[in-house]
Amino acid sequence: MQSVTGYVQSEAPHLKQSELCASCHTLITEAFGPDGEVIGSLPEQMNYQEWLHSAFNKEERSCQSCHMPRAEGPIRVSSVLGDTRDRLAQHVFVGGNAFMVRMLNRYRNELGVAALPAEMEATARATVRQLQDETASVSISPLEMNGRQLAFSVEVRNLTGDTIYKARYPEVCAECPQPVATTGADQPPPDVAADTSGPIPAPRVLDEGNAFIMNSMLQDVIRRGTAIRAKSLNRNDLAGKTGTTNEADTWFNGYQKNLVASVWVGFSDHRPVGDNEYGSNSPLPIWMDFMKVALDGVPEETRQQPSDVVTLKIDPRTGEPASPDQQNALFEYFLADHAPTTRASSQTTTDIDSKQPVRPIDLF
Ligand code: HEC
Ligand code: HEC
Repeated sequence: MQSVTGYVQSEAPHLKQSELCASCHTLITEAFGPDGEVIGSLPEQMNYQEWLHSAFNKEERSCQSCHMPRAEGPIRVSSVLGDTRDRLAQHVFVGGNAFMVRMLNRYRNELGVAALPAEMEATARATVRQLQDETASVSISPLEMNGRQLAFSVEVRNLTGDTIYKARYPEVCAECPQPVATTGADQPPPDVAADTSGPIPAPRVLDEGNAFIMNSMLQDVIRRGTAIRAKSLNRNDLAGKTGTTNEADTWFNGYQKNLVASVWVGFSDHRPVGDNEYGSNSPLPIWMDFMKVALDGVPEETRQQPSDVVTLKIDPRTGEPASPDQQNALFEYFLADHAPTTRASSQTTTDIDSKQPVRPIDLF
C-alpha cells in the first residue's frame, strides 16, 4: 500500500472497538404493506445493542475479542512485499446459523452465490463447531422423583462466563412475599441478571379465603351435587362443575390440587346432543375414568382452612346459624367478616321456610 499510494498505514484504535462492528451489523429491516408503503420495522441484527447492555461491555470484552480470533505466530499480510505481523486477527464469518449457510450453498446458482462450495461448507462447519463447543452448555440437575412427578432444573450456561438463562417457573408459595397480581396484563420479562436462587412466587389472583370457599363449593358438586357419581372415586380432594348449554354442549370440568381435566361431549356442528344429555351423563364418567388412572397412588390433599374462614353449623334451608338441636344442620364455611349472626330457633326456620322465600340479604 505504501509503495503504491505513498501513505503509511497505522492501526487506528477504532479497529478494536465494538462500534466498528456495529457500523455494519446493526440492521433494521422495513416491512411493506400491500401498496408498498412502510408499515413497520423489524430489528433484525441488534448485536451491538445487546452487547451494550450486557456484562461484556462492562468487562470490556469487545466483539473482536470473540469474533476475530488471533492467528498464531507471525503471518504475512500480503503476498507482495508483505511483512509478517504478529497476532493477526481476522473477521471470520462465523455466527450462529449453519442452516442458512448450507441453504445458500445448496441454491448457490439460483441465488448467485460467489463463494466456492468448499468455502461455504467450511464456514458452516466452523459455525456448528462454535455452537457446539463455544456457545453454551446445558445441564440437567438434580433429578428428583416426588411421587409420580419428575422434577429437575435445566441450566443453560454461557461458556463465556454468565448464566444466561435458568429455567424457573412460578410456584405457589403462601409464605413468600407476594408479587402484585396483574390480571391479563403482560408480565415483564424475567430479569436474567437478577438473583436466580429461590422460588419465583406465583402472583396470587384470588384471596386465600375466597379460594378456599370456592373450592369447598365445587367439592360439594361431587359430595352432594350434580356430579355425585364421582363420589365413587373415593377421594375427598376432588372438585368440579357440570355444564350443559343450548342442548348442544355437555361438559364436566374438574380437578384435584395438581391436576385439572375438562371433558366436553357434543357434535362439531353443534347438533343437539339430545334431551337427556347433561354434563353429569356423558362427560362425567369419561372424566372419572381418566382421573381414576391419573390419580392412582397420588395421596389425598387436604387444604388448610385459612384464618379468615370460619366453620358454622347452619340450617340448610335458610343459611342461618342452626339451633343446637337441629337435626339436618350442615357445617358450612364462611368468610369471618360475612358469617351469618342471627340465631334462628328451629321453630322460626320452619316458618320462614314455608311462608317466604329467603332473600340473600337475610344472611348478613
Ligand atoms: C463493512 C461491513 C462489516 C463490518 C464493519 C463488520 N462486518 Fe461482520 N459481516 C459483514 C457481512 C456483509 C457479513 C455476511 C452477511 C451476514 O452474515 O450478515 C458478515 C458476517 C459476520 C458474521 C457471521 C454472521 C452469521 O450470521 O453467521 C459475524 C459473526 C460477524 N460478521 C461479526 C463481525 C464483527 C465481530 C465485526 C467487528 C469486528 C464485524 N462483523 C464487522 C459485514 C461487516
Ligand atoms: C463473548 C463472546 C462474544 C461477543 C463479545 C460477541 N459475540 Fe457475537 N456471537 C458469539 C457467539 C458464541 C455467537 C454464536 C451463537 C449465537 O448466535 O448466539 C455469536 C453470533 C453472532 C452473530 C450471528 C448471529 C446473529 O445474531 O445474527 C453476529 C452477526 C455477531 N455475533 C456479531 C457480534 C457483534 C457485532 C458483537 C459486538 C457488538 C458481538 N457479536 C459480540 C460470541 C460473541
